[in-house]
Amino acid sequence: MSPEELVEVAIAARAHAYCPYSDFAVGAAVETEAGRVYSGCNVENVSSGLSICGERAAVFAAVSGGERMLRALAVVTADGSMPCGACRQVLAEFAGADLPIYIATPDGAYQTLTLGELLPRPFSSPLVQ
Ligand code: THU
Repeated sequence: MSPEELVEVAIAARAHAYCPYSDFAVGAAVETEAGRVYSGCNVENVSSGLSICGERAAVFAAVSGGERMLRALAVVTADGSMPCGACRQVLAEFAGADLPIYIATPDGAYQTLTLGELLPRPFSSPLVQ
């Protein structure tokens, strides 16, 4: 799938964002090594700590579908915001530093960064390889 197509999937997912508290809608889509695509949106909760970001919703959908290696990620917000630190660490669990991340706006415009650029030195545990 092209970056433009993955961005379109993320735009569609963003329409489902549940964000009555922040009014900040996020859509995300991941393509896996197997070539399948999973999407997610942010889902907020009246108990703030229970909210989940769009990026993590997409990654967890992929893992729930049996996929553990990501090939690309697209994220769409109104202003082209960067993924939060928590989501970067979760991405590092299932992707390498070369993972392309398409940071997009609802008009489809995007810039490409890698996970390694966004999270140069992720935490890794000597207990789990
Ligand atoms: N949010 C995301 O979905 N992804 C991020 O990387 C950062 C923030 C969501 C969480 C919350 O629903 C809203 O954006 C405002 O923080």
